Amino acid sequence: MRSIPRVARAFAVTGALALGLAACGGGDDDTSTSGDGGGDLVTVGFVAVGPEGGWRQANEANVQDTFTEEAGFELKYAPATNLDQRSQIDAFTSFVDEGVDVILLSATEGAGWEDSLRRAQEAEIPVILVDRGIEPDDNSLYVTRIAPDNYEVSTSVAQWAVSQFPDGGNYFVLEGPAGVSVVNERNKGWDDTVSSVPGLVKVGAQTANWSTEEAKSVFETVLRANNNDIQLVFAQNDEMGLGAAIAVEEAGLTPGVDVKIATIDGTRPALEALGEGRLSFVAEYNPLFGETLLEVVNQVLDGEEVEPYIVVPSETFDSPEAATAALPSRQY
Ligand code: AHR
Repeated sequence: MRSIPRVARAFAVTGALALGLAACGGGDDDTSTSGDGGGDLVTVGFVAVGPEGGWRQANEANVQDTFTEEAGFELKYAPATNLDQRSQIDAFTSFVDEGVDVILLSATEGAGWEDSLRRAQEAEIPVILVDRGIEPDDNSLYVTRIAPDNYEVSTSVAQWAVSQFPDGGNYFVLEGPAGVSVVNERNKGWDDTVSSVPGLVKVGAQTANWSTEEAKSVFETVLRANNNDIQLVFAQNDEMGLGAAIAVEEAGLTPGVDVKIATIDGTRPALEALGEGRLSFVAEYNPLFGETLLEVVNQVLDGEEVEPYIVVPSETFDSPEAATAALPSRQY
């Protein structure tokens, strides 16, 4: 726990956090309270998701590689137990009781966080949402959310799909787990664009829990039930898109020819598959925002106002050539 008592805090109407901290005690004449102030380490409680797939591994490693002691931080990493929200709430509560300086939260479930967030508010501990949002979204309960914009990312997939099927087609959606905020955001971005194209017909949607194996199983069933008459798959992450590609191949069809598969994340396996033509479109959901997150934490601790949502830029890849050109410089 830092020796610097917090003196005042006002949660501005905009939801941005104005935090007043005063350096005192210990003869430390450093007035900066941020992680680069050269004083005590800033303690950061990271309520994380833990093992989930390539994107998550890249994101959480990037956060841990950024919030180092050399940078002035003590990062306490608390991955969920088997993606269970109860274990996250327990870790969150422990961080509040311990009096960490900041809590980072990547929520396995969108709902059910109000009580925990209010406890952090009462303890004057700022909370920053990493990647995942909360539902209902009440920005007075947290300082900011930092992530790519799921609505925009999924809209880019939908716009590509509309361009590929001017004469329409049947499609299926492989969703992430029910109750996860990004799943709802991605569905809305997709639906708001595709629903305006009468020829694109939604045959169905089902969760495959971000999993390649589960997506293969789900989609091979869907192909059989529809006599292979599916031309497009919107997979809400790369692992599920790769599972759909396997199902297409095992049905004797050719991915990219008989069935076009579009995914979100931009991991290396997906770009390699796009380079081979097994996937047709990959929208990056950039996980490497640790440096920006560190700047935001320092701004918050130094009492600066921050935007309620900090968007991480992401790009798209729409051809084998684009994927092949990008692969040498990809970091995840
Ligand atoms: O919240 C981000 C999503 O969670 C990624 O798209 C997915 O791969 C991860 O499991």
